[in-house]
Amino acid sequence: MFLSFPDYFLWGTSTAAAQVETAGDHPWRGLTAKDGYRFERTTDHEKRREEDAAFITRFGSVYRCGVDWSRLQPAPLAKFDPAVVDEYCTFFEYLKKRGVSLMFVLHHFCHPNWFEDKGGWTKEQNIEYFVNYTQQCIKYFGKYAGYWNTFNEPNVYAYNAFFSGDFPPHKKGKYLLANRVLDNMGQAHDIARLLIREKHKKAPVGISLNTASFEAANIWGVLPVAFSRWWFMTRAFSPFRKSDFIGLSYYAHVLFDPLPVDTINRPDKVRQLDLPHDKMWLYNPAGLGQVLRNFWQKYRKPIIITENGICTDDDRTRVQAIRDYLGVCHAAIQDGVDLRGYIHWSTWDNFEWHLGPTYRFGLVRVNLDTMERTMTGAGLFYEQVVLQGGVEV
Ligand code: BGC
Repeated sequence: MFLSFPDYFLWGTSTAAAQVETAGDHPWRGLTAKDGYRFERTTDHEKRREEDAAFITRFGSVYRCGVDWSRLQPAPLAKFDPAVVDEYCTFFEYLKKRGVSLMFVLHHFCHPNWFEDKGGWTKEQNIEYFVNYTQQCIKYFGKYAGYWNTFNEPNVYAYNAFFSGDFPPHKKGKYLLANRVLDNMGQAHDIARLLIREKHKKAPVGISLNTASFEAANIWGVLPVAFSRWWFMTRAFSPFRKSDFIGLSYYAHVLFDPLPVDTINRPDKVRQLDLPHDKMWLYNPAGLGQVLRNFWQKYRKPIIITENGICTDDDRTRVQAIRDYLGVCHAAIQDGVDLRGYIHWSTWDNFEWHLGPTYRFGLVRVNLDTMERTMTGAGLFYEQVVLQGGVEV
């Protein structure tokens, strides 16, 4: 059966500057990931922009991406480095000429070391630095952005940076600090949204919130599930409610027994459960349907899937995941959810933060020794989905 999506439906793919460019002066630089790779040279994107653009343009009319704040602004409140501005503008212009506009992400888990040294998002007074950076982004890159994400997944950032300790600044169990970070980001979001509004009235501004399906594996999991659902998807979203659309990302099904069960930290348990999973999490596309309906019922705002994908080396598994997820999206639209678009993560394989580049999500495969790109079967499949505006299931 062919599932056709509405004409206005937006298709695209996404990457993040830090995950694809050689590291600037930011807190991820030099860290050793779980798979042993160093966060330094990631995918050489800065040297292969035209080649990468050729893939991007095959995957829809929107490319969700950002810039490396640390390369643009080497010191607090400094003017952006003209050479770096030029590098980005040349690339964005190239995409524009080929019919691709940006969903511009201002903050994606990464900021300059000087910002981190000042206390990063834990300090309210640092918001002014982000505002200055935003103003310059609007000035130089605003004309390329059809949509904006002020923040990528503030819930994942706050959790990993201040609770699990997996992201810099590697703090553990700092629940109050994590909440303060969310609130500071929320304030920064409100200011940035107004600034964008002043110059670009038509470009919708939102964030991308990470969502997941949380379920109790036993009685001990009931409370952790209730708390996780609330904190991750309600509490974390509350500072960002002033948004023109709701951007959601979805990857994971997490069981609690009472501790979270995922493939990264508890592979033996996942094997023992014998449930569908990828290299990072349990797999449950139906959970995305639940999330879409919940957010639509609660907020009644247009939704865009800003990221969705699967961590696997296997091409056929990726094709099946795209089919599964798009089936779920189509059913949600039929049910009245105002879903406006789907952006797949990721355009090409990249550096998966603290885990490393062997955790692959790309529609294009990257050879980690030579950085050579190869289109995959899943990439060809997604290209057809975009061309046909729908998917055969
Ligand atoms: C992040 C991406 C990441 C992806 C896969 C999202 O949470 O925004 O940067 O690579 O998930 O884990």
